Amino acid sequence: QRKITIAIDGFSSTGKSTVAKKLAAELGYVYVDTGAMYRAVTLYALNNDIIGDSGCNKRAMKKHLPEIKLHFEFNEKLGYAEIYLNGKNVEKEIRMLRVSSFVSPIAAIKEVRVKLVEIQQEMGKNKGIVMDGRDIGTVVFPDAELKLFLTASAETRAHRRYKELLDRGDEVSYEQVLKNVTDRDYIDSHRENSPLVKAEDAIEIDNSDMGLEEQFERIYGYALRLI
Ligand code: C5P
Repeated sequence: QRKITIAIDGFSSTGKSTVAKKLAAELGYVYVDTGAMYRAVTLYALNNDIIGDSGCNKRAMKKHLPEIKLHFEFNEKLGYAEIYLNGKNVEKEIRMLRVSSFVSPIAAIKEVRVKLVEIQQEMGKNKGIVMDGRDIGTVVFPDAELKLFLTASAETRAHRRYKELLDRGDEVSYEQVLKNVTDRDYIDSHRENSPLVKAEDAIEIDNSDMGLEEQFERIYGYALRLI
C-alpha cells in the first residue's frame, strides 16, 4: 500500500485535531499536532518571562531557542502522542487559555517557525503521516498528496472550544474564548512569516453544520482514493 502525506490546515478550533487523530488511527499513520509544538514553546516563554502581559522579548526568545527540546511520546491509553517540553509532559498545560492568548505572537517569530518546521519535516520524511496546523500544506509539506482546509463560523468554533475548556476545568467565559479564537485567526492570517492561507490545491470543508462522522467519512474517502 502506498503511503501518503496528509496536511490539514485551517482556523482555530475547527476540529482539525479530532478528525486528524481519527484518520491517523484508521490508516495506521502517525499523527502530529503542530499547534502543540507552538504552544509548548509559548509555555516555555511564559515560564521564563520572555512573554507576558507587558509584551514579548523577541531577542530573548531567539536566544533561548536552542534550550527548547520538544518530543512526542505515544500514549497507548489515549491512542495518540503527547508532547514533552524539556522532558516534561505538558499536554494539559499547553491547552490553557493563558497559553492560547500568547501563542500567536510567538508563532509569528521567524526563528521559532524555522526550528519547528525543520522538526516537522523530519517527522514526515517517510510519509504515512497526518499533520495538522496552519502552514502544513503551504510550507511544511507543499507536495502533500492530500491537503484539507477546514473552516467553520467563529461562533461555532468558539462554542466548541469553550465547552472543551470547561470540561478541562479552565475557568473561562464564552466571550473570552470567542475573542481568543478571532484574535488568533487575525494574527495567524496577517503575519509576515507563513501566514495561514488555503493552499491552492487544498480541499476546503466548512464543518459548521457537519458532525464528526460525516466529516471523517468524506476525508477518509479522499484518502482511500490516493492510497
Ligand atoms: O492548532 P492550535 O490552535 O493548537 O495552534 C495554536 C497556535 O499555534 C495557532 O493559533 C497559531 O498561532 C500557531 N500555529 C502555527 N502554525 C502551525 C500550527 C499552529 O502558527 N502549523
